[in-house]
Amino acid sequence: MNTVTVLVVAISLFMIANAAHKGHGKCLPGDKHKESPSGEESMAACKSYKDASCCTSDFTKQLATSPVEKVGKFSWTPCNNTLSPKCEAFMVMVECFYRCSHNTYFWKNPDYPSAIMKAPVCASFCNGWFDACKDDLTCAKNWITDFNKTETGVNTCKKPCKNFSDYFTNGKDLCESMWGTSFVYKETDCLQMNFTGPNPNDDLVKRLSEKSGALFFTVSLAALWIPLLFTIAFIY
Ligand SMILES: *[C@@H]1O[C@H](CO)[C@@H](O)[C@H](O)[C@H]1NC(C)=O
Ligand SMILES: *[C@@H]1O[C@H](CO)[C@@H](O)[C@H](O)[C@H]1NC(C)=O
Ligand SMILES: *[C@@H]1O[C@H](CO)[C@@H](O)[C@H](O)[C@H]1NC(C)=O
Ligand SMILES: *[C@@H]1O[C@H](CO)[C@@H](O)[C@H](O)[C@H]1NC(C)=O
Repeated sequence: MNTVTVLVVAISLFMIANAAHKGHGKCLPGDKHKESPSGEESMAACKSYKDASCCTSDFTKQLATSPVEKVGKFSWTPCNNTLSPKCEAFMVMVECFYRCSHNTYFWKNPDYPSAIMKAPVCASFCNGWFDACKDDLTCAKNWITDFNKTETGVNTCKKPCKNFSDYFTNGKDLCESMWGTSFVYKETDCLQMNFTGPNPNDDLVKRLSEKSGALFFTVSLAALWIPLLFTIAFIY
């Protein structure tokens, strides 16, 4: 019995350590990301992620020169109007997070592993993003599903071109709609997308991992002890 307890405790501690590692040791799978995070010496944009990046320096070139019209084949300007510099700056920060951050893995989408699901973005960022883009033009609310595509794979308008403020009601709506289910709007314990210096999201992932690790620990101990107590009660 003692051996089993020691084993469960050891396994649980290992799981906690492992979970804590989960959010910054890996990149999302698929060809949009590197195999694993590594340093990038000469990033043209997304420099906050240079120490352990899931995107290549080469990828960042297309984000570095304003106006950004396309990212790969994906057009940011299907209404044939370039985005305002302030709106574009927010779009770039979101793209940098998705493509370059090593924290995204923690929110890996179980149905589409190269995408993320319900990553908590700070409310202040969402509000600033809405404010910066509200007078810019777009023709889709959900930028994953609401476009048509040309035969070369470039997205085109299916719906009318209108101001962001006509497609989105506020920062919450923008964060929780534009990239499908990727993001949720959250006041605290949330991801920052505009930072320089040490990555503040490493600490968030660490804290959230410890929480889930501790839960696993409690559940596994209970799973061990409850049947054991029943057995003892039965014997006596
Ligand atoms: C943008 O320009 C392209 C090429 O001229 C055209 O095919 C497309 O319909 C235009 N889009 C809108 C929304 O006007
Ligand atoms: C977008 O908003 C601006 C500023 O509020 C306004 O002048 C413009 O007419 C709007 N454009 C459209 C297409 O609604
Ligand atoms: C979008 O694509 C569909 C199917 O190819 C086509 O029938 C439709 O006319 C397109 N809509 C626009 C606005 O181009
Ligand atoms: C990002 O943060 C910097 C420094 O705090 C600030 O100067 C800049 O305006 C911010 N960028 C945006 C688009 O909010």
